[in-house]
Amino acid sequence: MFNNLTKLTYQSFQQSKSYFSVGHKLLSTQLKNLLYPTVGQMKPASPEAIAKLQNRLNLLLEADWQDSQKGIYPESVLFDNSWADFFVNYPLLWLDLPQVWERITQGRYQDFSSTTDQEGYPSYYLQNFHHQTDGYLSESSANLYDLQVELLFGGAADPMRRRILAPLKRGLQKFQGISQKQIRILDVACGTGRTLKLMRSAMPEASLFGTDLSPAYLRKANQILSQNPGELPQLLQANAEELPYLDNYFHAVTSVFFFHELPAAVRQTVIEQCFRVTKPGGGFIICDSIQMSDSSELANMMDGFPKMFHEPYYKHYTTDDLVERLEKAGFEDIEIQIHFLSKYFIAYKPA
Ligand SMILES: C[S@@+](CC[C@H](N)C(=O)[O-])C[C@H]1O[C@@H](n2cnc3c(N)ncnc32)[C@H](O)[C@@H]1O
Repeated sequence: MFNNLTKLTYQSFQQSKSYFSVGHKLLSTQLKNLLYPTVGQMKPASPEAIAKLQNRLNLLLEADWQDSQKGIYPESVLFDNSWADFFVNYPLLWLDLPQVWERITQGRYQDFSSTTDQEGYPSYYLQNFHHQTDGYLSESSANLYDLQVELLFGGAADPMRRRILAPLKRGLQKFQGISQKQIRILDVACGTGRTLKLMRSAMPEASLFGTDLSPAYLRKANQILSQNPGELPQLLQANAEELPYLDNYFHAVTSVFFFHELPAAVRQTVIEQCFRVTKPGGGFIICDSIQMSDSSELANMMDGFPKMFHEPYYKHYTTDDLVERLEKAGFEDIEIQIHFLSKYFIAYKPA
């Protein structure tokens, strides 16, 4: 009875996030049409696509609930939400929108303020991904990012990230005989640290590591992660093409919402780096967008997404054969899962 009530509360909590996102999209689209009528918009989804999306979302939330009941992570994680961040950043997000629309109107997609230090970053990185003001290179971008992702996915971003936790813990069972503290897990392109935060709640003792290219996002990750009890994950600024770790160092490596933002050749290099730093027998889990072969009903959405959200490498990603890439790097036993709008590649380095 009590359990049913908690499940209902969780479903309602997620439903309210989803309604809020729809409301936000409707309102911002109306304002955009008024102020910047030339800025394009996504073709409305067909009724079939909407029904399919709702069904996928329901399945995701059920899987999320079930994993909490299996003890993969505590139930409290399902309700984790930074209200303070929301109330501060939501008005800022609205204030940011006019300059975003202005840039789109003028076709400026590699636009950084004069104070942004662009030195040393790969050219493919210097983009206003999802029209983000200053790309990934400012504090305000880092402050708005989580909220923008939440609005994009209707509140389902963390439930999608959490789907890596069950296969992650399953893969780690191979390393019995060593203490939890000795287990080392790396999250590549950790951004603001959401996935590390979820890992910490599921594995309070494990040694967690995160790398990202953005100093601003790493500072935000540090701020978010230091609010949690337990040891702070070790964060390092690094290009995923040259991970600054020893060979065979990690029992598991993960990467969330990253590969679609890389040119094809870089995707291969990063996979090879992840292979190099994973211990024999260790797992590598990629969570990223679904691909064209996964859903014909959502093909229109995937077609429109890169243009609407400035994702220059997404189109290639949607038809890229990541299994082939993983195998080429040396991974084996590759399992694929799909949850809502995400696809998961769970691969192992031969023992
Ligand atoms: C879409 S965000 C995903 C962040 C995070 N994993 C999440 O779940 O929200 C992509 C992240 O990849 C980082 N990134 C992009 N290219 C990178 C590279 N070559 N090396 C390391 N990080 C990179 C960006 O700074 C950004 O934080």
